[in-house]
Amino acid sequence: MNVKKLAAEAAVELIKDGMTVGLGTGSTAHWAIAKLGERVNNGLKIKAIATSKESDALAKELNIPMVTFSDIGQIDITIDGADEVDPNLILIKGGGGALLREKIIATASEKLIVIVDESKLVRQLGGFALPIEVIPFGMESTRKFIEELGCKTKIRMTDKNDRFKTDNGNHIVDCTFGRIESPEKISQKLNQIPGVVENGLFIRLAHKVYVGYQSGKVDILLKKND
Ligand code: 5RP
Repeated sequence: MNVKKLAAEAAVELIKDGMTVGLGTGSTAHWAIAKLGERVNNGLKIKAIATSKESDALAKELNIPMVTFSDIGQIDITIDGADEVDPNLILIKGGGGALLREKIIATASEKLIVIVDESKLVRQLGGFALPIEVIPFGMESTRKFIEELGCKTKIRMTDKNDRFKTDNGNHIVDCTFGRIESPEKISQKLNQIPGVVENGLFIRLAHKVYVGYQSGKVDILLKKND
């Protein structure tokens, strides 16, 4: 059973004619883009904006009409994956290195719909190393300040042993906290460090989370007070 595909395809049912849709990044978002492409080729009228060059290329291959921020007012729905989801629907994202564009697009969207398989649900965030986008200049110094917040860091590398480069020309520092007791405080402190562009904690952004299970069911988790 392809559980990621299951959650992704259920979420794509939310997309209606006339919407502007944010396209996520990663192996789960891949299935959402594929389904959306199928619906567009069957007559669905939408515009889309992508959170990465990779998703943009896939969408264009599937003939999904792509726009940029200068073409649109707001984004109606963004569908994106996550690396961890806690009971308050706070997320860790950035496993694919696209967290900055993902956060910009999620923030500009009326609704962020998250698609995951059951393995992404956690009681407490932090088991997955938190990705942080850092500018190349001063990396070693920026990294030290990040570690002072109580984590171990690794600079993300490619298979060729170069520093991984984001679509924005920056690097990713993966930070192992073990447990993140206070995501809001950590997020604020991280973003105050010069050189940190953005971190992978998504707080009060997710509207709904579609969770796929091996049994074939898809649960929908709602933001509290919705
Ligand atoms: C990319 C992301 C992805 O959404 C996240 O890593 C989940 O990926 P996948 O769907 O492949 O498990 O944040 O930056």
